[in-house]
Amino acid sequence: MKRYPMYVNGEFAAGESGKWFPVYDPSTEEVIAEVADGSAADVERGVAAARAAFDSGGWPQTTAVERGRILLRLAEKIRQNAAHLAELECRNSGKPIVEAEFDIADTASCFEYYGGLANKIMGHVNPVPENAISLAMKEPVGVAGQIIPWNYPLLMAAWKLAPALAAGCCCVLKPAEQTPLTVLEMAAWLTEVGVPPGVVNIVTGFGESAGAPIVAHPGVDKVAFTGSVEVGKQIMRSASDTLKRVTLELGGKSPNIFFADADFEAAVDGALFGVFINQGEVCSAGSRILVERPVYKKMVEAMSAKAKKIRLGPPLARETKMGPLVSKEQFERVAAYLEVGKKEAKLAAGGGRAKEFGRGYYIEPTIFYDVDNSARIAREEIFGPVAAVIPFDNEAEAIRIANDTPYGLAAAVWRRDIFKAFRMVKALRVGIVWVNHMQPTFVEAPWGGYKHSGFGRELGPWGIEEYLETKQVHINLNEQPIGWY
Ligand code: NAI
Ligand code: MG
Repeated sequence: MKRYPMYVNGEFAAGESGKWFPVYDPSTEEVIAEVADGSAADVERGVAAARAAFDSGGWPQTTAVERGRILLRLAEKIRQNAAHLAELECRNSGKPIVEAEFDIADTASCFEYYGGLANKIMGHVNPVPENAISLAMKEPVGVAGQIIPWNYPLLMAAWKLAPALAAGCCCVLKPAEQTPLTVLEMAAWLTEVGVPPGVVNIVTGFGESAGAPIVAHPGVDKVAFTGSVEVGKQIMRSASDTLKRVTLELGGKSPNIFFADADFEAAVDGALFGVFINQGEVCSAGSRILVERPVYKKMVEAMSAKAKKIRLGPPLARETKMGPLVSKEQFERVAAYLEVGKKEAKLAAGGGRAKEFGRGYYIEPTIFYDVDNSARIAREEIFGPVAAVIPFDNEAEAIRIANDTPYGLAAAVWRRDIFKAFRMVKALRVGIVWVNHMQPTFVEAPWGGYKHSGFGRELGPWGIEEYLETKQVHINLNEQPIGWY
């Protein structure tokens, strides 16, 4: 069995506790590796290394061009090793291999994008009414603590590390305890591509024991988190003691809205893709499917017929369209929601464990319909392959239902009438709106939520802005004294 130590100050080593925790293949429920169980002592070492690299190690003083080249070399390494990384990601997370391959390609693209952006961070000249030059300069925020989830393991690491490194920050990253393997494989290449020791530290372990100490540590200047609302709130509270900058990407209950004039076939596929991609373990999952009355019944029937044919199977099999959920814990959480749903609404497809598999955390693609928007399955994030279909009568009602949620991450609108589609775009209180599509995500475009889905934006130029401070510089051009006193 392979043991994965954590990566601190350019070296792989066991945790201070000497303990290891198991990591699983959720399709077989078997342990596939052991990983160092990090604690506050390891966070201490990680933050000390990052602080030293930032304060005296010279990373922020490297030129932006040089940091960019390092990220491009890292992207190249990822592309060269894409098959291996995709297979490992697939085995550890349970996602279908074809999706894992997309994720690894997106990971490389993210490092390439920020490699290219590093030397395009511009300051400003401010037109002040003085004989002076007034500048606004961009500088790295310092040491970033980064805590990521298990649904897109290596890609989430890239979303956090790439903009931070391009900006000149140093990082202490904690992967999710369920899926720490691929980022540790990547860490093995950091020295070779030119990342100095201490600039990136990967502390592995659990949320309470390894995540919380990062958030509380006075040596960390900023925390970036993706995960549950509950932990996001805790992080914000804890970070307030040391006045850290905080960005949060939390969950959602995103509406996928279908008007009667939408292309019907595209709508059926779009509804299923929106909610079942990655087994529904997606923050932007279109888990509330709103359908206009004239096509409601037909749509529920067509979706259900197709959902029953979705191919579940071993994640490594190329024909597999849906794998198991990531963990026993997530399986049980989703299974509990299936029972809630059966009391709250009508069941059109799925509704239980996929029985054809003797083992593995497989859940059938599930569709509930006639769901009231006040039902728990319409309000709470399930994070599994479970759709709640809700009918509506007109545009105003669609808007009201869509926005009647604590969340505000994403939404999609399907209709041919472009004026009406644009009215919906404006009315929806979310950070991302797709029209006649759902889920495509690009490193060039901003990602993040309104309301309880968090704040701050990742990706694009917005993503690097979160790792930058703005310094005002005033250069007086008058040679005579100020002459006030
Ligand atoms: P979680 O929010 O507990 O875990 C996410 C990350 O935070 C992991 O790395 C975890 O170790 C860390 N963490 C946990 N407690 C922490 C603490 N007190 N301080 C610092 N770090 C901490 O999410 P979990 O338990 O894996 O999933 C629960 C639910 O959260 C899911 O069912 C889903 O609804 C939501 N979720 C949303 C995600 C998103 O992409 N927005 C990703 C993962 C989960
Ligand atoms: Mg948790």
